[in-house]
Amino acid sequence: MTFVRNAWYVAALPEELSEKPLGRTILDTPLALYRQPDGVVAALLDICPHRFAALSDGMLVNGHLQCPYHGLEFDGGGQCVHNPHGNGARPASLAVRSFPVVERDALIWIWPGDPALADPEAIPDFGCRVDPAYRTVGGYGHVDCNYKLLVDNLMDLGHAQYVHRANAQTDAFDRLEREVVVGDGEIRALMKIPGGMPSVLMAKFLRGANTPVDAWNDIRWNKVSAMLNFIAVAPEGTPKEQSIHSRGTHILTPETETSCHYFFGSSRNFGVDDPEMDGVLRSWQAQALVKEDKVVVEAIQRRRAYVEANGIRPAMLSCDEAAVRVSREIEKLEQLEAA
Ligand code: FES
Ligand SMILES: [Fe+2]
Repeated sequence: MTFVRNAWYVAALPEELSEKPLGRTILDTPLALYRQPDGVVAALLDICPHRFAALSDGMLVNGHLQCPYHGLEFDGGGQCVHNPHGNGARPASLAVRSFPVVERDALIWIWPGDPALADPEAIPDFGCRVDPAYRTVGGYGHVDCNYKLLVDNLMDLGHAQYVHRANAQTDAFDRLEREVVVGDGEIRALMKIPGGMPSVLMAKFLRGANTPVDAWNDIRWNKVSAMLNFIAVAPEGTPKEQSIHSRGTHILTPETETSCHYFFGSSRNFGVDDPEMDGVLRSWQAQALVKEDKVVVEAIQRRRAYVEANGIRPAMLSCDEAAVRVSREIEKLEQLEAA
């Protein structure tokens, strides 16, 4: 099993964390995540060094995480600060591994690899999530597939024509224009859908307008599996910059080889004070991401054993360019670490 460990991954959303620890596995590594009394998030290996109890089942005592089994207490850096037994000795063997954490853009980023290599500058930009010009709604989903299947899914947003047909099908699909832009550690798949009638979702964005529109579905990938899309719509002929749009957070974090965490969000530049528009976006996320995409990728995952056992290679289509480029980049990162 291969994971790229020397990279930033989102392990949680800020609203998931409090002084009550959250147990969450990323890259086959169980973590105990919690907010310390000063507000700083801590991430410890969720295995007590004594008898391997789950620290995430413990509680904070005087700001320290207390093991639920025999009461050892740890600070946010993983040092044992209290041993209630015998003479209270605290040898180095009582320390628990801690992980670098950065809370940024309303995301909790964790570095599961070599801490000496953890550079916060390398965290991709999701500033739209906290930009006051935008309104963000989003959430968390759990998907039973290898994270790469969802990366493939997201790097070709043309799948909406079929997977999300009730909401996102467009009559201009046959005029779709694609471009793939490869940058430094960044790949963008750009899609323009010119001169179509608004899809059900776009019509909601436009509050029921029913005249031809240009639409854009772009997505940016940053290593290893953090994507930001740009879903825009405007009356036909309007420059892209003047569109109304949503910048969508789509960040995947491997849990195991066959499951992943999906952190999603939509940051929109229209109807920012309109709770009804929040509802439109929330129901889109619940329907499209948590149901429709999940069904497709989990079915692919269940076929993987047969596919691998029989050495079946995927057939390639013209819409696969961005996904293929990204999967090669991920492979390169895996090989780099293996070396
Ligand atoms: S298992 Fe944690 S103190 Fe014993
Ligand atoms: Fe989708």
